[in-house]
Amino acid sequence: MQEGEQVIDLNGRVALITGAGSGIGRASAINMAANGAAVMCSDIDSQAAEGTVAAISEAGGRADSIGLDVSDSGEVERAVAQTVERMGKLNVLFNNAGVGGGFDWHQTIAVNLTGVYYGLLHAAPYMAANGGGVIINTASVAGLVGLTGPEPHPANEDEGGAGAYVAAKHGVSGLTKQFAVNYGRYGVRVNAIAPGYIYTAMTAELRELEEGEAYLTDLHPMGRLGQPEEIASVASFLASDAASFINGVVLPVDGGYTAR
Ligand SMILES: NC(=O)c1ccc[n+]([C@@H]2O[C@H](COP(=O)([O-])OP(=O)(O)OC[C@H]3O[C@@H](n4cnc5c(N)ncnc54)[C@H](O)[C@@H]3O)[C@@H](O)[C@H]2O)c1
Repeated sequence: MQEGEQVIDLNGRVALITGAGSGIGRASAINMAANGAAVMCSDIDSQAAEGTVAAISEAGGRADSIGLDVSDSGEVERAVAQTVERMGKLNVLFNNAGVGGGFDWHQTIAVNLTGVYYGLLHAAPYMAANGGGVIINTASVAGLVGLTGPEPHPANEDEGGAGAYVAAKHGVSGLTKQFAVNYGRYGVRVNAIAPGYIYTAMTAELRELEEGEAYLTDLHPMGRLGQPEEIASVASFLASDAASFINGVVLPVDGGYTAR
């Protein structure tokens, strides 16, 4: 960073974001584009990804979209290649796609953990061979601690339960540190964001439960849930040279959730 440099400047950078059609991914795509990045918006729901592109284009930013299921290694490899092909390079990968409740153990691990692994696997060597880059993973407070519910609940492991989600997100924390160690010398920074509960589609059902939102609110010392934009601004920061010496951290952005 130069003295007096603009703090978050992503001009000239190309970012690929997974799960960019909704919630945190969509807000991050919009935020990174507003900070000057050209953004490849990917999502298993390609129409949703196109919606994010439309929002960026309307605001005068540069974006494109691709359909991508992160649990398929070949698709992730192609998404990295297509981003380079269409946008000239790849500076930033945001491994953000994920699923919440309603998925079994194997599906949850496949998307939330293996999907992040595929992103690291296919993008880190490209970045290392092309002057460096930044990879950001979306972990969770569930990547740092176990989860609690409104009622003391059994893990419901036959339905996936909280165990699959917590195991996947702890895995993301571990992968973040290992790739940061492996690739730091090649100019690739790898970090994770660990959000508290955020107002997105993923938490809608939970928030609608009787006592649900009040219970979740109480878990956060700030007395509220977070907005997707409050994660997006941190993703842009980590992607930028303002974070040029941050490598291998799992950064809670949780209103104090993990502070107690
Ligand atoms: N919302 C929260 O409270 C919260 C808290 C901590 C962590 N997270 C994590 O944040 C990330 C984003 O979640 P969100 O809250 O924005 O949810 P969201 O449901 O709004 O968005 C998730 C997006 O990922 C996409 N997706 C799902 N499976 C995919 C796949 N296999 N391949 C590609 N895309 C896929 C969905 O289509 C959707 O657009 C997830 O990794 C989630 O685990 C969310």
